[in-house]
Amino acid sequence: MTARILDGKKLSAEIRASVKEETAFLREKGIVPGLAVVLVGDDPASKVYVGQKEKGCLEAGFASFLHRLPDSTTQEELLDLIGRLNGDASVHGILVQLPLPRQIDPDTVLAAIRPEKDVDGFHPVNVGRLVAGLPACEPCTPKGILRLLKSTGIPLAGKEAVVIGRSNIVGKPVALMLLAESATVTVCHSRTKDLAEHVRRADILVAAIGKPRFVTADMVKEGAVVVDVGINRLEEGLVGDVDFGPVSEKAAWITPVPGGVGPMTIAMLLENTLEQAKKA
Ligand code: GUN
Repeated sequence: MTARILDGKKLSAEIRASVKEETAFLREKGIVPGLAVVLVGDDPASKVYVGQKEKGCLEAGFASFLHRLPDSTTQEELLDLIGRLNGDASVHGILVQLPLPRQIDPDTVLAAIRPEKDVDGFHPVNVGRLVAGLPACEPCTPKGILRLLKSTGIPLAGKEAVVIGRSNIVGKPVALMLLAESATVTVCHSRTKDLAEHVRRADILVAAIGKPRFVTADMVKEGAVVVDVGINRLEEGLVGDVDFGPVSEKAAWITPVPGGVGPMTIAMLLENTLEQAKKA
């Protein structure tokens, strides 16, 4: 089998176009969706992501408020900024780019964002709502993954879904969202025994481990849907967590890197911000 491409670039462009259309309608009513992005320090990958988020906002017709703080910023200074953004009516979404410098505790910072402005879905209230199956602001990358999976038209209910990676940003929330779709979900991680055995059972495979070409063709079931969340910067360029060439000979669907999950994350961020602006 040669896999069909799950094209995140194309799907995200459609979503961004519809966000832009709704934004134009809101603006006529005097509401401009506003996203504040906070970048602390000089992490090169974070700078790229933040730049993409800002570009996405401007293209959609949002107001974008970028706050660049030095690496030496104290936790108090950051909490002070978040307090101001929490109280600013023109800001509907607040995103603090992770990772943060060592002197700042990310959990304290994320918990300081008003849950209604938490467009990343990382606040404990939103995490708890997701766990409980209540309506929540869902984290952008997992939400984008579910959107890609649904675009195949393949029902998720009853499928064997295997997630590799247990991060708070991707692995855990995507597992919960697949469970909410009635998939049978296995979460594998660095301590999993016989990882390949679990992965071979997957009808739906989500790879989010951050190891280049970790998932090889012998680990993939014929006809599986493979979602590659990895963005590994090697000398040869960007490489996913999946060995794309050989795996695409076995899978039914596969996301490319780049052009798969990445663009979906930004489209979901815009959608989450728009939703909060509509509620304001
Ligand atoms: N760092 C890597 N991914 C993300 C994300 O989705 N949101 C934030 N805030 N930081 C990140």
